[in-house]
Formats: sequence, C-alpha cells, structure tokens
Amino acid sequence: MIINPISKISGELSVPGDKSISHRAIMFSSLSDGKSIIRNFLQGDDCLSTIRCFKQLGINIIINNDVVEVEGNGLHGLKPSVDILDVGNSGTTLRLMTGILSAQAFDSMVTGDSSIQKRPMKRVMDPLSKMGAKIESINNNGCAPLKITGQPLKGITYESPVSSAQVKSSILLAGLYADGKTTVIEPAPSRNHTEIMLEYYGGTITTKDLETTVEPVNQLKAQEIIVPGDISSAAFLITAALIVPNSRILIKNVGINPTRNGILEVYRRMNANIQILNERLENGEPVADILAETSTLKGIVLEGDIIPNIIDEIPIISVAAAYADGQTIVKNAEELKVKESNRIDAMVENLSKMNVDIVATDDGMIINGNNKLKGATVESYHDHRIAMSLAIATLSASGSTTINDSDCIAISYPGFFNDLEKLSK
Ligand code: S3P
Repeated sequence: MIINPISKISGELSVPGDKSISHRAIMFSSLSDGKSIIRNFLQGDDCLSTIRCFKQLGINIIINNDVVEVEGNGLHGLKPSVDILDVGNSGTTLRLMTGILSAQAFDSMVTGDSSIQKRPMKRVMDPLSKMGAKIESINNNGCAPLKITGQPLKGITYESPVSSAQVKSSILLAGLYADGKTTVIEPAPSRNHTEIMLEYYGGTITTKDLETTVEPVNQLKAQEIIVPGDISSAAFLITAALIVPNSRILIKNVGINPTRNGILEVYRRMNANIQILNERLENGEPVADILAETSTLKGIVLEGDIIPNIIDEIPIISVAAAYADGQTIVKNAEELKVKESNRIDAMVENLSKMNVDIVATDDGMIINGNNKLKGATVESYHDHRIAMSLAIATLSASGSTTINDSDCIAISYPGFFNDLEKLSK
C-alpha cells in the first residue's frame, strides 16, 4: 500500500467493534444456553478465526454483516472437532480457547499461522497444568501446535508473573469448570472484559485490587450484546488528528473501559486536545464519543502500571512521540517483544527509515521528537498495528511511504484505509 501525506483530516465516524470484546462475546455465547445476538461484531480476521473454531466445536453461528447470532449449547455442549482447530494469527483465540478446551470431555489439536507458532504458550500451559490440565506442545518448544487432552480441573490460586488479560482469561475460563474457586493475582491490572462479560452472562466473579476470583457455574444464559467501538482502532485516527494540521474529528461509540483507556491519559499528558463526550454504560462497558484536534504535543516518560493498559497502543504512541517536542521514553514494555511481531524492533527499524531519532532499549524505546519525517519503504512484519502506525506516521511526513504486507490490517480494522480516506476528503 502506498500512502501520501495529507493536509487535514476532519469529520465524524464510528470505528469497528472492539476485538477483545468480540472474541469473548463468541466464546461466552457458545457456552451459554440459548440464542445470543451480538451487534457491531468486529468482522476482522482474528474474530472470524474465533467463529470458525467454535463452529468446528459444534456451535451454530450465523453472521449477518456485523450482527452475529450464536446458538449456545451450554457449558458442556461443545463437540470434538474433526479437524485441527486453526486460530490463524489470533493470540486471544488461542490462549482463551486453550483454557476452555482443557476442561472438556474430549481432546483437541490447536494451531495457527507461522507467527502464532512462535508466541509463548507456557504462560497459560503452566497455570492450567496446575489445575490438572494436560497440554502438550507438539514441537516441545512451549508454542502451538498444542495437543489438549480434556481433564477434570481443580481450582487454584495463581500468582501470574505477567500482566496479561489473555493469561488471566484463559485461567478464569478454565475455572468455570473447576471443582472450586479459582483466583488469579496479577502484578498490575490488565483489561477486564472477561470479568465484565462473565457477570453479564450470569457467572460469579469478584475482583479485589489485583485479585480476580471466579466460581464454577452450572449454566450461563444467552444475552444480547452491543460491542463498543475499539479504542485500539480509534487510537490510530485520534493520533492522525493530533499530528496533521487543521484537523478535528469526532469518533462515536468508543469503548473507554478504564483498563483500556490509558491512551487518553497518555495523550492528555502529552498536551493533546482531546475531549470525551456523551459518556454512558452499555452491557456493563463504559462508552463515549471522542473529539480530537490538531495539537502541539510534548514528550513524556511511560512506565509502570499504565503499560498493560496501553500495550496495543505503544506503536502508535511512538508515532505521536516522533512528532512531539522533546523526548519520550517507554520503559517496562518488554511484553511488546512477544506480540504479533517484536513491536519494539519493528517500530524502531521502520521509524528510523522514516528519519526518526529512535532507539530500542531492553524494555522499550527512546524517541527524540520533533522530527521531520520522510516517506520510505517499510515493513509491517505481518503485524496489523505496525502497518496502521506507519500509515498514520506518513500523513504528516514529506513524500510517500510504501508499506509492504499491509493486508494484515484486516486482522483488526478491515475498513481502515476507507475510513482514513473518508476523513481526508
Ligand atoms: C488481549 C490482551 C492483550 C492484547 C491483545 C488482546 C485480550 O494481550 O495485547 O491484543 O483480548 O485479552 P496480553 O493479555 O497477552 O497482554
């Protein structure tokens, strides 16, 4: 994809549904009794992988544009899949489904694309094994493909070394089937969509500081869900408005769950003109409209507990930092190395090609801002968030940028280029 700089962006739009919530809506609906209806479902490749897997597990799922109907078979209603389950590029599908499959009365084989086969699974295999699960990494490297032999599980208390909603959710989902309570203790809070949705579907779950406890249940009840717009997708357009002169955009219906809205706090600290309007609650999730305007940004230090909250937004924040006055330092973000790509290396390498003064550190990066960005030929490393970050970086650069392997954007935001074009008219 070739991207050219633009003179302004303006207008109003909604971004597609939240990826994390869309995945969970399919999973909880599949495990419930009755028909659930999910509106504003994200039809990105990752969430479609979750649908494909649950169809393979015997669930009837009908997609009508962004409305999805799921005929749940109850907590014990999944059927063994004839074929190997393929999660594609989706870490959320793989990790959460591994928790569910560990507790079934049948065995499963799960794999995914070449990137997924390099992502660490020991982080869920270890705690699930403590619950009694039997999970084998076929290549003995702690990654997929996995053979999961369904087992009766016992409740545990697990102190997680990483702050990861995928790890926490995998254990909590397994905990629905355990013989007693299951508690996960995290080093810092991670996104809590599983907890909110489980309660919405009739489960019993409590959170106290960094401890989350789930109780086994006999039944979950089908629901109607409206998926809020994905703040991680909105982050790209917000950043475009901040860095392109004469810009003003309104993004409607964005999820602003406090475990996900760190980007707004970060941009406030960077001096951004952002307003949160029309705040409300939908299905237990806070939602608002976000107004963003051209801003004179300043560099900041990002570290500590906010990192898990902005983990998917750090690539696009590094773009904002390249246009800001002063230095931005990102610390404590080593988790970026085990995402769809090594996101520290990917941003440092690509932004350097675009003339940005940026270096990698052991746990993050240092960006000296106020750069005059130049177009270049850059690589997505098949990582949707890297491709979109580089597209936005080009909008205020000089010269055009060619992004190799940009199709991966369809993983989380299939209409990204259309939306960008609409706003730049
Ligand atoms: C996700 C959690 C995060 C995030 C990913 C989606 C989720 O991963 O990076 O895009 O839906 O639970 P970790 O929990 O591994 O940090």
